[in-house]
Amino acid sequence: NYYAVLMAGGVGSRFWPVSTTEFPKQFHDMLGTGETLIQKTFARLSKIIPEENILILTNAAYNDLVLQQLPQVKPEQIVLEPAMRNTAPCILYASLKIKKQNPDGVMVVAPSDHWIENEDEFIGNLQTAFNYAERDDVLMTLGIQPTFPNTGYGYIEYDKKDEAPIKKVSHFREKPDYTTARTFFDSGNFLWNAGIFIWSVKSITEAFKKFQPVMYALFDSGFSVYNTEGEKTFITDNYIKSTNISIDYAVMENAENVYVLPATFSWNDLGTWGSLHEKLTKDPNDNTVVNATVFIENAKNNIIRTDKDKIVVLDGLEDFIVVDKENILLIYPKNKEQEIKKFTELVAPKSKS
Ligand code: GDD
Ligand code: MG
Repeated sequence: NYYAVLMAGGVGSRFWPVSTTEFPKQFHDMLGTGETLIQKTFARLSKIIPEENILILTNAAYNDLVLQQLPQVKPEQIVLEPAMRNTAPCILYASLKIKKQNPDGVMVVAPSDHWIENEDEFIGNLQTAFNYAERDDVLMTLGIQPTFPNTGYGYIEYDKKDEAPIKKVSHFREKPDYTTARTFFDSGNFLWNAGIFIWSVKSITEAFKKFQPVMYALFDSGFSVYNTEGEKTFITDNYIKSTNISIDYAVMENAENVYVLPATFSWNDLGTWGSLHEKLTKDPNDNTVVNATVFIENAKNNIIRTDKDKIVVLDGLEDFIVVDKENILLIYPKNKEQEIKKFTELVAPKSKS
């Protein structure tokens, strides 16, 4: 009865110029392990979920990338979205599709671009959450111990005195502003949302019916054609009509049956160059170098990446991201890394030679 929905339709724009609309981060080997992020995620999930029960939702533009990187996946496991509508429509659609196949299914929704260590712990946590979601009408989240007031995450409030392994969530707050995040962080009653959700298809579709009735009606109107030949036409004609909203705002902030299991694995969402830097090997001055041959003096805490063997000479640089890719060179302060997404539309002029 276990299913997984792998979300692989994002762009990873803060990793420009390596991650681009044509070739987003989940399809890159960001960690230099020999496997791309989506390949690692698929392998991790298939330790607990039958491979044929893993659905991949992505933009139609990435179909070839998915087929190349995950040759074991059958075309009917891939759902191609004609346009980006964020995670809520993607999750509702996948849930209805699974429900059609198995009304008693329980599923995990997982981003395709995260770093997870201690995979055995991860599988154990998932098993615990599955058991709970099979039994009760709950929306389960995995909570990460916060280390600073990050404004890029969802915050999960729970009662610290609650001794149960799985705790009732009193509030879910998606991406608070800095002052609010600071208060949450200082109170010690909040965990970060890892963006991984576990629930039965029954519970999540009921939650959508209640909190997103228009979206629910739109996708439920195609229920009879799900998992048949008629499905492609339905999705092409209807997907774009959906509201563009994430699951966090659409459902999690509103629902009252949200629970959290504090995660026992290490997690990093690899959301920015800085978070990637944390996971890569560093020299004694905390510089990370990928692909390049670097001569460094007086340089600290930089991440340097070139797309082929290139000689880089650095002096006096501190806390910078240096990325050289084809005809683009990015030299950018780490403390402004959230802003890199605004350059994704930039294309450098082709050289004339
Ligand atoms: N199929 C599909 N379609 N996937 C999508 C789409 C879409 O339109 N948009 C985003 N995704 C995928 C991304 O590729 C990523 O794997 C995942 O869905 C989450 O989207 P993000 O855009 O990365 O979300 P976020 O990082 O801003 O916030 C979420 O994750 C945080 C943890 O990393 C939220 O759930 C936060 O609450 C959470 O803390
Ligand atoms: Mg993310």
